[in-house]
Amino acid sequence: MIAMKVVIATGVPGVGKTTVTSKAVELLKEKGYKVKVANFGDYMLKVAVERGWVKHRDEMRKLNLSQQRELQALAAKAIIEEARKELGEDGVLIVDTHAAINTPTGIWPGLPKHVIENLNPAIIFVIEASPEEIVERQRGDKGRVRSDYSDTEFLRRFMEFARNSAIASAVLVGAAVNVIYNRQGEVDKAALKFVEAVEKI
Ligand code: AP5
Repeated sequence: MIAMKVVIATGVPGVGKTTVTSKAVELLKEKGYKVKVANFGDYMLKVAVERGWVKHRDEMRKLNLSQQRELQALAAKAIIEEARKELGEDGVLIVDTHAAINTPTGIWPGLPKHVIENLNPAIIFVIEASPEEIVERQRGDKGRVRSDYSDTEFLRRFMEFARNSAIASAVLVGAAVNVIYNRQGEVDKAALKFVEAVEKI
């Protein structure tokens, strides 16, 4: 039986994971794949706004951990249910999310056991760039508040943590971890690597 392919795109805020993912979707569609992208933050934000907890997505990681955990669990469940309805058993679901989140309680896993088991991905992509490039990209992204991620030394340590978190999550479901370097001005190359890996699932 053909099963829906699930992959996860992670990367620190501003590294360009949404940009690389969008390009990869374009390429996959050209090759005839049925693709759905689910932005994990969008699903969390919808519930958080309905409940009057936040007005903006960058406020979510400052909520109490118990609130974030509830939003996280609801998002994982909704994403997989919607994708099954939309793609059936045949298609590629790309979940745009984070392997680690910087919260006031400490660094928190974006893909803990119950989330990763629900999503059951074949690949967890870790999109990376140099801390200096990330800070520069964040500057160009008006309307977003990522000051808690814009210190280059912090980013260097956080990226190491995020990569290790991705590996820890992958171990729980037997997924591959694929690190893609999103070089300045080379989104297409990064997207191509993404697509090549998806085609090998
Ligand atoms: P999310 O929605 O993922 O927002 P984010 O963290 O800020 O990340 P973005 O997706 O906006 O940034 P990006 O890295 O994709 O960069 P972009 O492509 O825009 O998450 C929001 C919140 O949701 C989180 O903070 C958290 O609270 C919550 N959340 C999400 N998942 C969760 C989970 N699993 N558990 C718990 N909470 C969760 O690119 C940035 C800029 O760079 C653009 O201007 C772009 O044009 C440019 N750029 C990109 N690539 C290149 C390149 N190669 N060369 C030059 N410029 C480039």
